[in-house]
Amino acid sequence: MRILITAGPTREPLDPVRFISNRSTGKMGFALAQAAQARGHEVTLIAGPVTLPTPDGVTRVDIETALQMLDAVECHLPAHEVYISCAAVADWRPAVYSPTKLKKAGMDGTIQLVRNPDILKTVRPLKDNKLFVGFAAETGVPDAEATRKLNEKGLDFIVANDVTAPGAGFATDTNRVTLLYPNGTREDLPLASKLEIATAIISRIEQLRSVTDC
Ligand code: C5P
Repeated sequence: MRILITAGPTREPLDPVRFISNRSTGKMGFALAQAAQARGHEVTLIAGPVTLPTPDGVTRVDIETALQMLDAVECHLPAHEVYISCAAVADWRPAVYSPTKLKKAGMDGTIQLVRNPDILKTVRPLKDNKLFVGFAAETGVPDAEATRKLNEKGLDFIVANDVTAPGAGFATDTNRVTLLYPNGTREDLPLASKLEIATAIISRIEQLRSVTDC
């Protein structure tokens, strides 16, 4: 299969030296790319600003902002059967970008923000029979919020986790996730390395594809 994966944070610049971003390191998305490639899939990895090496055999596209990530997803999605949206896309960006460094004296302590587009929702019309998988990083029990996102974004399943749980979250090498499906099925995966979790997610995708293909 051809699998498109987004990973890492996006970075929303205010001026050439300042930006809004989040704590995502890209580890889960890069593990997915590595696991998918190891299973023999063709992988395109759209990455926000992270310091990770590109997994062998993976085609990487680097972007910085949410709008650039949206452009890259719209460009690459048609050539893929699966889209895994693992990126921590910034929900907001500064309304105005200053091409020169903003001076403290000229700022009044407020930054006006505008909403970034929801990439999954924007590309939903391109879904056809592609498989879409999303992530929901929550604080606390993720189920209710993750189920809302699963339905709202029209996903085939969502990978939910509590980023405050021991061994889970952004900069760790391990994760503990729950897979939630539109029919209400849930599957708790035990605490494991991000690569093991990624391999389990890719195998669920393979199972779903083989059912759809019959
Ligand atoms: O940020 P949120 O919790 O809504 O993320 C849920 C899912 O939606 C993730 O898979 C994320 O990659 C995706 N998303 C997106 N565009 C955004 C925000 C999130 O595609 N602007």
